[in-house]
Amino acid sequence: MCGIVGYCGKKNAEDHIIHGLEILEYRGYDSAGISVLNEDGKLTTVKRVGKLEILKDALTSLHLEGHVGIGHTRWATHGIPSDKNAHPQVSEDGSFSVVHNGIIENFIDLKSKLLAKGYTFKSDTDTEVVANLFQDYNTGDFLETAVKVAKDLKGAFALGIISSHYPGELLGLRYQSPLVLGVDDQGTILASDIPAIMDYTKDIISLENGEIAYCQEDQRSFYSFEGEEIQKNMEHIDWNFEQASKDGYAHFMLKEIHEQAEVIKKALDMKIKDGKVSLGDQSFSKEELASFDKIYFTACGTAYHAAEVGLRFFEEILGLKCQSEIASELKYYQPFIDDKTLLVVVSQSGETGDTLAAMEEAKAKGAKILAITNVVGSSIARQADKVQYCFAGPEISVASTKAYTTQLICLYTIALDFGQKLGLLDDQTHQAYVQDLYDLVGKVDLLLRREDPYKDLAGKIKNAKEIFYLGRGIDYLSAKEGALKIKEISYINAVSFPSGELKHGSIALLEDGVPVIFVITQESLLDKSISNIKEVKARGAYTLSIAMEGMDQVDEVSDDVVKVPRTNPFFAPVLAVLPQQFLAYETSLALGNDVDKPRNLAKSVTVE
Ligand code: F6R
Repeated sequence: MCGIVGYCGKKNAEDHIIHGLEILEYRGYDSAGISVLNEDGKLTTVKRVGKLEILKDALTSLHLEGHVGIGHTRWATHGIPSDKNAHPQVSEDGSFSVVHNGIIENFIDLKSKLLAKGYTFKSDTDTEVVANLFQDYNTGDFLETAVKVAKDLKGAFALGIISSHYPGELLGLRYQSPLVLGVDDQGTILASDIPAIMDYTKDIISLENGEIAYCQEDQRSFYSFEGEEIQKNMEHIDWNFEQASKDGYAHFMLKEIHEQAEVIKKALDMKIKDGKVSLGDQSFSKEELASFDKIYFTACGTAYHAAEVGLRFFEEILGLKCQSEIASELKYYQPFIDDKTLLVVVSQSGETGDTLAAMEEAKAKGAKILAITNVVGSSIARQADKVQYCFAGPEISVASTKAYTTQLICLYTIALDFGQKLGLLDDQTHQAYVQDLYDLVGKVDLLLRREDPYKDLAGKIKNAKEIFYLGRGIDYLSAKEGALKIKEISYINAVSFPSGELKHGSIALLEDGVPVIFVITQESLLDKSISNIKEVKARGAYTLSIAMEGMDQVDEVSDDVVKVPRTNPFFAPVLAVLPQQFLAYETSLALGNDVDKPRNLAKSVTVE
C-alpha cells in the first residue's frame, strides 16, 4: 500500500524522506516521488515509476537543498502506475504539492467543478484534485486553506502538503487513513507508518480522524478540520530498527515464523497473572458480558481464519452460538447486529479498510467492539470499546505468520476471561487450559527447530498447477490458512474445503500427482480422515498429511507426513499452521518468488 513521508525542520529534507521511504518499501509500491522546497520557496518535484533506486538515481544530479519536503511510494488505485500518476501531485500552477494515501470518493464531482473553472489535469489520480483545490481555495494562509479543502473531501485520506507560497511549512491531514508525526527539537517527520520515523525519533504523535498537523520550521501545532486548535499528547514507542530488520534471516517471513515461540510466550505473559487470565480494564465486566446475546467475529484474510478458530473456542467455553463474517461482507449485511451484540474484530495492522468499515457500521447500530490488533494506536484500536493487543512485534513480511498465532492466543484468552467472569469455568478447568496454552510455547519451539523436511516437500509440490488443502472440523479452518499462505507467495492456486465435501464434486479434479494436503489433529475425526486420504490416493494424488504425534495410521496411508506435538484440540491450529507456513515459504523460494513482497499484494489494505 502507499507510503507517506514528509519532513519539516532544520535538517536536510531529502535525506530523511528517502530514508523513510526505503523503510516503507516492504509495504509494496509501483512508483515513488519527492517534492522539496528550498529556502527561496522554489518547489522541485521528481517522480519515477518503478523502484526507489530509479528515483534515487534521478535525484543524484539535482542535489535538492531544502528543509521541507514530502515523499511517497504509490500502489496504484486511480490510474495506472506511471510517472505522471506517481505522487507528489502538483497543482496546475505548480505552487502546491500533495502526497496522499486513501481514496477521495467524490473526486469526480470535485474534478468536474474544477474543470468548469478552467483547470486542466495532467494525471488520472484523485490526488491531483486535492492539489488543485488548494490552489483554488488559497487564502494566503496555509492552515485556513487546508480547512476549506478538508470540508470538500469525502473518502479516506492521509495527506501531506507543501507549497511555494508557504516556505518552511508542512501540513498533514488525516481522515480514515493513518498519519503519525515523529518529533524532536530539530523538526518533525510526518509518516503513514511508524517504522518510517523510528530511526529519527521514538517520540510520536498520532493524528486522529479529522485532524490537521501544522508544522512550521521546528515547531508544530494541531487543529480540527473546523480550524480549532487542539492539544495532542506525545507517546514514546519502544520499537527499534533492529526489531524491524531481518535479524540474520534470509527473509522477514522466515524471521517472523521463527519468532513465534517467543511472541506467543510474550502474549501469554501479558494476559495471564498467577495462572489465570487477567485482561484488566481492556475486557468487559460481568454485567456487560451478560448484556450480550450475540457474539460476531469479523476480519479479513489470515485474521479471519484466526477469528474462525477463536469462534469455535468461544462456543465451547460460553455454550453460545457465535457467528463469523468476512468484513467486506459484514459491512453491507448486518440485519441481526444491534445493541446486544458484541463484535470481535481481528486485524494485525489495525488499519484494514474493510474491517474498519464493518466495525464502524456495527458500532453505529449499537454493538460493542472488542478489537484484537497488533498495532498500538491503530485506527481499529482507537475506535474499539476494548482492545487486546497481540504483542507480536512489527510484522514486515506481507504474508502474515506470527500475527495469526498471536491472534489465536488473544482469542483463546478472551474466551477464558469471559467464561471465568460468567461463572462458566471452574478454576481447575481454567488453569488446565492456561497450562495447555503455556505448553504451546515449548511445542512451537520444537517445531521451529525441525525445519528440515520442507525444502524437499516444496520440491514435490512446486510445479503443481493447484493444491488441495483439506481437513475436518477445526482442521478445515487450519487448512484454509495453509491454502492462503501458499497462494499468496507461491502463486499456485490452492483450494481448501472440508474433507467430507470432496466427494460432492471436487474429486473430479483429482488425477495423478495432484498434491492434497491434509490437516489431521482431531482424534475424534481420525478414522474419517484416513478414509479421505485413501480416497484421494486411489485417484493417484500425492498426499502430505500434517498430523498429531501418535496418529500412526496416517503414516501408513500418506505419501509424506509431518507430525506436530499433541495438544488440546482447540489449540491445535497454533501448531498445525507452522508446517504450512514453512511449506509455503520453501515453495515460494524454490520458485524464485519475492517471498516478502509477493506480487499484487500489500501489507496493509487500507482501502475498501
Ligand atoms: C495474508 C494476509 C492478509 C491479512 C488481511 C488482513 O497473509 O496478511 O490476508 O491477514 O489483509 O489484514 P489485517 O490483519 O492487517 O487486518
